[in-house]
Amino acid sequence: MKPYIFITRKLPDEAVEGLRGNYEVSMWVKEEMPVPRERLLEEATKADALLTMLSDRIDEEVFNVGKNLKVVANLAVGFDNIDVPAAARRGIAVCNTPDVLTDTTADLTFALLMAAARRIVEAADLIKEDKWKSWSPLLLAGQDIHHKTIGIVGMGKIGAAVAKRATGFDMAILYHNRSRNMEVEEAIGAQYVSFDELIAESDFVVCMTPLTEQTRGMFTRDVFRKMKKTAIFVNAARGPVVDEEALYDALAEGEIAGAGLDVFDKEPISASHPLLKLKNVTAIPHIGSSSIETRMTMMKLCADNISLVLSGKEPKTIVNKDWKN
Ligand code: DGY
Repeated sequence: MKPYIFITRKLPDEAVEGLRGNYEVSMWVKEEMPVPRERLLEEATKADALLTMLSDRIDEEVFNVGKNLKVVANLAVGFDNIDVPAAARRGIAVCNTPDVLTDTTADLTFALLMAAARRIVEAADLIKEDKWKSWSPLLLAGQDIHHKTIGIVGMGKIGAAVAKRATGFDMAILYHNRSRNMEVEEAIGAQYVSFDELIAESDFVVCMTPLTEQTRGMFTRDVFRKMKKTAIFVNAARGPVVDEEALYDALAEGEIAGAGLDVFDKEPISASHPLLKLKNVTAIPHIGSSSIETRMTMMKLCADNISLVLSGKEPKTIVNKDWKN
């Protein structure tokens, strides 16, 4: 019997065709909807491998039923949706998709920063809604980006790629990270500062940190109060890093000037959410790595990782390096 792979979302055939010869592959059928929990559990009982999305919760319950599971390949660089220690305890490899999405996600982050600063979405809505009456001196006047200070919280690969883009705008670059990143300091001139200094000094506070127990809820009411009144907050990392009520209050009360958000505490966020009622919020639906080229590359990387693990080899990208111990 061929090993069985379950893919939790409908992916284009060409992304997974390489798996079909050697494995039995089945996919959840709806592109826009996550697999229901019961179906995921049912599939996990049979599967040797799961190809999962960041919207799937892969926890102890899944691993308990997944007696044959050898690998979970997550279509994302982030893996906060997976209980990695629970996988490690069972010798299951957890794979993610780093590197291949770095530039695409940095492009989107910078686009979001620019859209929020220059009020691009508001401007596009105004013209489409036929509300443009005449050229006027302060029509949709936003904030400059060039020669301002960007503060990047989380200087991993994507943070560094955002910093690189900022150099093209002659920005001063501050960053805060668990450890210093000498490469960005030397190559880009980014300056390491404390978190407090970063939030007080930056015109653009850009959150690129992964979600961990240390970063959950780190953007509190107090943090937003310490930002400049003209600051724009950008989050392209994970929603739960932010206290959304505190962010709402800061935006509604003018403690900060605006926000560009690609990620939310609960996804998908409802259109009735108070944050989405604010004009100074530019919101997009978690599309950081979503270019056709990059998403196809990510899917193929997941497929390769599954194939490698199932044939007893090392995957190309692994989260729990000690999975075999
Ligand atoms: C990831 O890969 O973790 C990103 O959030 C996808 O956009």
